[in-house]
Amino acid sequence: MTAILDACCGAKMFWYDKENPDVTFMDNRSGEYSLGTYQVGNLEKERKLVVIPDIIADFRNMPFPDEAFYMVVFDPPHLIHAGKSSWLAKKYGVLDAKSWANDLKQGFSECMRVLKPNGTLIFKWNTEQIPLAKVLEQFGQQPLFGDKRSKTRWLVFMKR
Ligand SMILES: C[S@@+](CC[C@H](N)C(=O)[O-])C[C@H]1O[C@@H](n2cnc3c(N)ncnc32)[C@H](O)[C@@H]1O
Repeated sequence: MTAILDACCGAKMFWYDKENPDVTFMDNRSGEYSLGTYQVGNLEKERKLVVIPDIIADFRNMPFPDEAFYMVVFDPPHLIHAGKSSWLAKKYGVLDAKSWANDLKQGFSECMRVLKPNGTLIFKWNTEQIPLAKVLEQFGQQPLFGDKRSKTRWLVFMKR
């Protein structure tokens, strides 16, 4: 077992070392996705998104024992409205419009289950479509500290 779990790694964009051996990278998909094309002079280039997790699994039902990790990073999709084939949906994934609240609740609860006591949960959220307060209602636990103003919030929780 590694020290850290990234439960929604996507293209690992925020990792400095995308092959960090201390991290188990998880996502519910694996593949190469086209985010459209762009022009460089006369050349048309393709913007690609590569998602290669170590393990393909659902954050609502993680295949790990209790108290396995010292740190869990949880950066789930934050959009409920995005065209299925839009670049936003490909890059960040999309939450189900009906079940998103319960899905995030289950995800948070799974993150806490697989954390060791006093372990750290780093949660990232973008407030574009769903206010943070609505998400925190589902978690039933206040963060210790975090970003209070920007559209993209980084919050820190501890497993009690
Ligand atoms: C906001 S993106 C993560 C971006 C990533 N942190 C990065 O730095 O590139 C959310 C990711 O969660 C994944 N995802 C969506 N539903 C999931 C689920 N139920 N279980 C695990 N991963 C899921 C999506 O495939 C997507 O890659």
